[in-house]
Amino acid sequence: MKGIVLAGGSGSRLFPLTKITNKHLLPIYDKPMIYYPIQTLVDAGIRDILVVTGGKNSGDFLRLLANGKEFGLKHIGYTYQEGEGGIADALALAEHFSDGDKVCVILGDNIIEGNIRAAVDEFCRQPSGARILLKEVPDAGRFGVAEIRGNRIVNIEEKPRHPKSNYAVTGIYLYDATVFDKIRTLVPSGRGELEITDVNNAYIGEGSMTFSYLDGWWTDAGTFDSLLRAGNLVAQTRERAAQALQQAGT
Ligand code: G1P
Repeated sequence: MKGIVLAGGSGSRLFPLTKITNKHLLPIYDKPMIYYPIQTLVDAGIRDILVVTGGKNSGDFLRLLANGKEFGLKHIGYTYQEGEGGIADALALAEHFSDGDKVCVILGDNIIEGNIRAAVDEFCRQPSGARILLKEVPDAGRFGVAEIRGNRIVNIEEKPRHPKSNYAVTGIYLYDATVFDKIRTLVPSGRGELEITDVNNAYIGEGSMTFSYLDGWWTDAGTFDSLLRAGNLVAQTRERAAQALQQAGT
């Protein structure tokens, strides 16, 4: 399976922090934001990774990440999204890279405590279709929200005013190679973007969408509040791990 980190966009919700740099290069506690989604892919056993960037500071990703030595990788691929076409538009640029393989896509501002290895392994065994990761949240209306009946997802609504569940669709998506055909059928949403939620609903429509629940905490980091929250969560987790180590040693 191949891994794709989507790290484009203008980061307008974080202006002026993003006036002179890309959102995904901002710090989350002691590392640049983009380190976390890359590590999530690496921890899931994915070694072949493409970073989709954009904007005026895209060259900084190359200087920061180089060939991925810090993550134990031999190579990282890069591509460039022109304009602000949305998440699905950014993903379309990875068609050549994916070369018919399944892909694990992660949004560059999604930070998790645990790992996604079990979901990735299950998706490897799934013959085709897609799998998404859900997380129960108190503020579902900020996200794509899954409507679940029994053990099936019947629909996803993007930032609904009246969420039909408390389950947010996290920015971690597992797709087969038909994802690129599905993107070609999309039309821009009200905010002028090709929505990843429309891609997911296309899989739901053909009955090939499965899901897993994500263990541990999850946050995005695309607003002032969630950026602060992400840093605090990472710091607390790091401190707990250090304390556990200390206790184990005494
Ligand atoms: C995007 C997706 C949304 C998803 C969220 C996860 O929202 O459109 O469905 O729940 O990422 O972080 P955005 O952050 O672009 O508003």
